Amino acid sequence: MKVMNRRLAKQGLLAFLLLFAMQAGARERVCFDSDWLFCLADSAQMASVNYNDAKWRKLDLPHDWAIEGDFMPSNPSGAGGGALPGGVGWYRKHFTVDKADKYFIEFDGVYMNAAVYINGHLLGKRPYGYSSFEYDLTPFLNWGGDNVMAVRVDNSDQPNSRWYSGCGIYRHVWLTAKANLHVAHWGVQVKTKVNGEVTVNVEIVDENHSGVKPVIRHTVTDASGKVVATAKGNAVNAKLKVRKPILWSVDNPYVYQVRTEVLVNGKTVDEYVTTTGFRSFLFDPQKGFSLNGKSMKLNGVCEHHDLGCLGAAFVEDAMHRKLQILKNMGVNAIRCSHNPPAPQLLNMCDTMGLIVMDESFDMWRRRKTQNDYARFFDEWHERDLADLVKRDRNHPSILMWSIGNEVLEQWSSAEADTLTLEQANLILNAGHDASTLAKEGELSVNSLLTRHLAEIVRKYDDTRPITAGCNEPNPNNHLFKSGAIDIIGFNYHHQWVKDVPKNFPGKPFIFSESVSALQTRGFYMMPSDSVYVAPVEWWLPYSDPSMKCSAYDNMHASWSSTHEETWDVVKHNDFVGGQFIWTGFDYIGEPTPYSFPARSSYFGIIDLAGFPKDTYYLYQSEWTDQPVLHLFPHWNWLEGQTIDMWCYYNQADEVELFINGKSQGVRRKADSHQYHVMWRVVFEPGEVKVVARQNGKEVRQQVIRTAGPPHHIRLTADRNVMDADGKSLAFVTVEILDKDGNLCPNAENQVFFDVKGNASIAGVDNGCQTSMERFKADNRKAFFGKCLVVLRAGKQTGSVTLTAKAVDLKTDKITLNVK
Ligand code: GAL
Repeated sequence: MKVMNRRLAKQGLLAFLLLFAMQAGARERVCFDSDWLFCLADSAQMASVNYNDAKWRKLDLPHDWAIEGDFMPSNPSGAGGGALPGGVGWYRKHFTVDKADKYFIEFDGVYMNAAVYINGHLLGKRPYGYSSFEYDLTPFLNWGGDNVMAVRVDNSDQPNSRWYSGCGIYRHVWLTAKANLHVAHWGVQVKTKVNGEVTVNVEIVDENHSGVKPVIRHTVTDASGKVVATAKGNAVNAKLKVRKPILWSVDNPYVYQVRTEVLVNGKTVDEYVTTTGFRSFLFDPQKGFSLNGKSMKLNGVCEHHDLGCLGAAFVEDAMHRKLQILKNMGVNAIRCSHNPPAPQLLNMCDTMGLIVMDESFDMWRRRKTQNDYARFFDEWHERDLADLVKRDRNHPSILMWSIGNEVLEQWSSAEADTLTLEQANLILNAGHDASTLAKEGELSVNSLLTRHLAEIVRKYDDTRPITAGCNEPNPNNHLFKSGAIDIIGFNYHHQWVKDVPKNFPGKPFIFSESVSALQTRGFYMMPSDSVYVAPVEWWLPYSDPSMKCSAYDNMHASWSSTHEETWDVVKHNDFVGGQFIWTGFDYIGEPTPYSFPARSSYFGIIDLAGFPKDTYYLYQSEWTDQPVLHLFPHWNWLEGQTIDMWCYYNQADEVELFINGKSQGVRRKADSHQYHVMWRVVFEPGEVKVVARQNGKEVRQQVIRTAGPPHHIRLTADRNVMDADGKSLAFVTVEILDKDGNLCPNAENQVFFDVKGNASIAGVDNGCQTSMERFKADNRKAFFGKCLVVLRAGKQTGSVTLTAKAVDLKTDKITLNVK
């Protein structure tokens, strides 16, 4: 296939073509992200070939126009949607292609209401902003001449989401050339057994009705590329056997590949590569979850799709960083809440060893926000759900499907249609009386709908159980009553868990969602042994002039719990398969318990910039084998102030605290239900030190010193080298330090960045939920001593120097290599 954009074609850069020229005959798939034109405006003319787009902005996808905007209370998404703009935008791309039998364009995701045109012809519309979809371009292409693809993206009807959605073609786009005889879109299904059996089902499309019966050849290779099984024949179903397969697990995420070739007269006319793995898993009603026969807890987190200051625009490096930070905390499972994720996230989970709950919808027929997917559900749910399963069913990491999150169909009538977004969010988490639940012996419409959705999933994949995030724990919940839910999934309601074996006999159980504690990194509310519930009841407003939440694990919403409370239930009940904590990272939107100017969430264990809050170390101490000793908070208070010092630790029998050398006492966790220790002390400047001992011997210590005034900046990049591909990122932590190198825990200096060389600033952040500063900027205020700058590599090689300056502070500089 030869594809090029018009500009390059005119310049005659033939060498560039070679990048795209791939093996002739078989399918050729190229990334179609570069050199698009964009305009944030709307006119029907923008679809037409002759439309003058000369003044449009040039950009590469993935792109999210909302993240470039300003936070405004008047933006119709509201604080719940991140208070960033919506609207209608158009994308156009000019390109030429060589003749081929078929060309398909595939979008990983467009938020939302995508209308795709080629050379003025409407190919189709796709309302759901999280679905992947493809169109056949062939009948409308000009071979060798100019072609214009135009995409109208309409995110103007707001609010339509309970969190930040982003706007635009925010995931990758692919162009694929195929022969007339080819494997259908997502047309390969690979099933494996731990004994090495592999079953491959292939759906072949014969566009010309040629009647040719191709030979289908499958080749299984292991991770080193060695061929471990082959099969060849005319049947669309094949069985292969891999001898002694290496099993996929979270510790050893070993994957295989199945190459499926379609052969006509010995020539490969199409080929399709599928990643697979061998693993067995069980959700047991008594014993909980096991993988490959080994009992373990799903130590999971829920994640929305945004990537902090980069918005919804998908970038591999940003998602990879996110997953690495989570893995390092001990997370072994991700719930893609509450919608289909980027396909690349699933690839990463396959190879990084993260178990996935793949979720379809946040609502069915009954809406939660004025303009959400409920308005498309009747027409589109079947297609969207089937496509999700077909797209994702081969990933070894996915171990369950979720057909919905807290859908209002759990009850007969929840009257949510007339509620505001805030009310709907709150009512979702409140109790409902028995009259709204299923009646004995009756299969309600809502239960039938549950069955219908489960049947769609099972039609395309019968190898994984189905769950749903349910915040109605009563067994008469219409979803449970349908009998179609394989794994009972509670959202919250940890107090009800003891009754699960009685209420749901013979059914496995997980927390599909849990905790929803509220925290601002670096902010502490004392006394720390009081629990602050915000709001106290779901219908009451909550306000606090700080607009912050406490980073001791002592603050949560009325429907939720502290981290320790839910973990204790999970840890000490064998039948609980695990949990998916709300949430791993803070996300844009849903700033419970506040409203504007709060515009991003407080729920994360890690802030929006990717800086861990203290609870990160609670989980690390419980979920990993890494030695942990984490003392907090900082040591900059008023002289004489009473301060609660907490410590998370493991692999030690006791910890002792010293202030300026004076012991404040030894603490030991009383039993396996205790997760932190505390000292109530009186502050005096100097140093606070914690010493951990095992068998009487010191094994670790941590010292925090009172920081003096801000003196200099320290830049620390998470890598030294970036690829010269225009996409690679480096995440640079910016810290404000005193003259001795101590972090100034209250510093708020405005830091200004300058980049010299072949990179640019992709975004800046500091994790502050109420900051009105733009995410796309060359400066950022520090928040509790820190901020973040994200660099994006250009397409040329060379070195890049980032300089950070602030008034009265010593400058810092770092140099990275773009290769
Ligand atoms: C749940 C809901 C999540 C989020 C969370 C906040 O009820 O499923 O999407 O809104 O509450 O606590």
